[in-house]
Amino acid sequence: MNIEKERHRQGLFITFEGVDGSGKTTQANMLCSHLLQRGLEVMSTREPGGTRVGERIREILLDRRLREMTAMTETLLYAADRAQHAAEVIRPALLRGTIVISDRFIDSSLAYQGVARGLGLEGVRNLNEWATGELYPDLTFLLKVPYEVGMRRVVQGQRDRMERQSEDFFREVQEAYLTLAKFFSHRMVVLDGTQKPEEVHHQVMREVDKHLS
Ligand code: TYD
Repeated sequence: MNIEKERHRQGLFITFEGVDGSGKTTQANMLCSHLLQRGLEVMSTREPGGTRVGERIREILLDRRLREMTAMTETLLYAADRAQHAAEVIRPALLRGTIVISDRFIDSSLAYQGVARGLGLEGVRNLNEWATGELYPDLTFLLKVPYEVGMRRVVQGQRDRMERQSEDFFREVQEAYLTLAKFFSHRMVVLDGTQKPEEVHHQVMREVDKHLS
């Protein structure tokens, strides 16, 4: 175990991952509300975004007009957003003993940029470990949904730069996530995102409770 991991031990770092339309944002919100009701110290955040600097980077990343953006530029911008997010928000909160819930984190970059964009897992992983001081979640929920379900949930006319990718791209991201779930099986839990939100939430709580007890 590395030093950085040791240093945030008092808090708990939980992330939600999945393709667009997988329902992760709903689940992150439900978990946050539930833990707040229990009187716990909780913080909810997201990527890209989560900081003032990050929200500006997010605008660039999701701007539909910027079709010329290269995969490398995209990867570096996500990593820059994450560096700011980790340093300004996540790590200080974990040090205070807060439960941090993030809608996306490093696994998004590994799946979208490392695999689907074809930049390679190793390079994207090294970049992100450097950017965050090797900060990894303690627990990650991967919500799995078929392409049709995910895309139905994303409003057609409002699709951002990333959501305009092809069906093949979506499938590659999904496959990549499932591979990551095997590799990081100590922290990643795969849930069926086609279930009712309450059912998914119930399964999320069962896992989170194991970490809180
Ligand atoms: P998200 O916040 O899930 O979108 P929305 O607010 O529309 O639900 O994420 C925005 C997009 O960014 C999404 O298509 C996934 C992509 N993404 C990456 O490709 N790499 C990353 O590292 C992150 C954090 C997001």
